[in-house]
Amino acid sequence: MEKFVIEGLKKLSGEVSISGSKNSALPIMAAALLTDEECVIKNVPALRDILIMEDILNTISVKTDFSQKNNIMRIKADNITSDSDDSELTGKIRASFLTAGSLLSRFGRTRISMPGGCSIGTRPVDLHLKGFSKLGAEISNEFGIVDLKSKKLKGGEIYLDFPSVGATENLIMAAVLAEGRTTISNAAMEPEITDLCSFLRKMGADISGAGTDTIKITGVKRLHGASHSVIPDRIEAGTFMIAGAACGKITINNVIPEHLRPIVSKLRETGALVVEKGSSITVENTGEIKNTDIKTMPHPGFPTDMQPQFMSLMTLGKGTGVIKETIFENRFLHVGELHRMGADIKTEGNSAIIRGVKRLTGTRVKATDLRAGAALIIAGLCAEGITEISNIFHIERGYYRIEDKLISLGANIKKELNH
Ligand code: UD1
Repeated sequence: MEKFVIEGLKKLSGEVSISGSKNSALPIMAAALLTDEECVIKNVPALRDILIMEDILNTISVKTDFSQKNNIMRIKADNITSDSDDSELTGKIRASFLTAGSLLSRFGRTRISMPGGCSIGTRPVDLHLKGFSKLGAEISNEFGIVDLKSKKLKGGEIYLDFPSVGATENLIMAAVLAEGRTTISNAAMEPEITDLCSFLRKMGADISGAGTDTIKITGVKRLHGASHSVIPDRIEAGTFMIAGAACGKITINNVIPEHLRPIVSKLRETGALVVEKGSSITVENTGEIKNTDIKTMPHPGFPTDMQPQFMSLMTLGKGTGVIKETIFENRFLHVGELHRMGADIKTEGNSAIIRGVKRLTGTRVKATDLRAGAALIIAGLCAEGITEISNIFHIERGYYRIEDKLISLGANIKKELNH
C-alpha cells in the first residue's frame, strides 16, 4: 500500500497537460464489442480502471493491445463469449456493467454480475434494466447475476426517470443494433455521451441528438471497426484548475473549455482569475478566495465529480458557503478527513456548510474514494506542514501520475510505502 506525502504551502506555477477522459474511454471500450472488426481508440489514459476494464474484456476472449506509452488501445472482439460474470473482476469497477448493452445487442444474450454499490452511494442499475426491457429484453436477476435475453432487440420509447450517465450509455449501445427506432428521453447530456456517440457513428451507427436530452437511434444491421480519439478529461482538468485557484497560477493545456463552463463560472465567483485561450485555461489565485454556494447537478450543471475538490478550496475561503450534493446520497466522506486538517464544515443531510478557516494543518488522512482523494491532495497542497494520504489506489483509478504533474508545477509531493 502506498501513500502520498505532501509538504504544503508551495506556490504552484507552470503548465500541465490533461490526459484522455477515463469516463469516455470506458464506455467506448464497451462499444468496441459491437463489431467483430478491429477498433483503435486513441488518447486512452493508462489508469487502473482502464486496465481493469481491459482485463474484463480479456476474460470474455476479446483481443486487446494497449500501448500505454502511446495511449492507444486496439480492441478486436471477433471470437468472444457473451457472458461477463466474473464477479470478482466486474465488482471492481461499475463501468463493467456497460458491456451489457453491447453484448445483449450483438448476441441477444448476456449474463453479467450485478455491480456492487460503492462508498459514495448504493448506485443501483434499475434504469439500465428498465430500458433493456423496453427494448424487448427478458431479465432475471438471481444469485448476483443478471441474465439478459432477447431473440432480437426492438427499438422502443424509453423515458429515464433520472438522466443517468451509465444508463444512457448502456441503452444507446443496446439500441444501435436493435430493429427500428429508439428514442431516449430525459437522457444524460454529459460530454462523455457525445463522445461515445461520435465513436458509434464512426462505426456506422445512426444516432442523432447526442448532447441533448432526447437521443434518437435507428438500428442498423451491423457496425464496423473505427478509430477514435477520446476527449480530454474534464474532471482532471477541473482538479488542476482548483489547485491553481487555491495556491498559484496554472495553465491547463489540452482541454475543451466548453466542457468546463460550470467550473469556470464557480471559480470566477470565488475571485480566481480564469483566462481561456484556445484549448488552454489559466487559473490564478488572486489573494483571497470568497466562498460561494454550489449545487451538483447533471450536466451542464456543476459536476458531482468536482464537489469534493471544490469543498477543499472553500475550507480556506472567506465567509460561509453551502454545497448541496444532489447526485449521490453519501458523497461527503471527505468531510471527516478535512476536519482532521482543521476545516470547519457541518453537514446536514445532503448539504455541507463550509466556514472558511485561516489555515489547514497537515496530518494523516485517508482517501475514501477517487474524488475525495483528489480533494485531500488539494487540501494538503494548501496546508501547513506535512499531509500523508493513504489508500491512494483510489486516486490512481482516475488520475494519471498526478504526483509527477504536480511536481512539475512546483509542489512537494512524493509517493512512499505506507508501513
Ligand atoms: C458516471 C461517472 C461518475 C459520475 C456520475 C455522475 C463513469 C464511469 N462514471 O457514473 O464518475 O460521478 O456519472 O455524473 O462515467 N441511478 C439509479 N439507477 C440507475 C442508474 C443510476 O438510481 O439505474 C442513480 C445513481 O445511484 C446516482 C445517480 O443516478 O445516484 C447518477 O448515477 P449515474 O449518472 O448513472 O452515474 P454513473 O454512470 O454510475
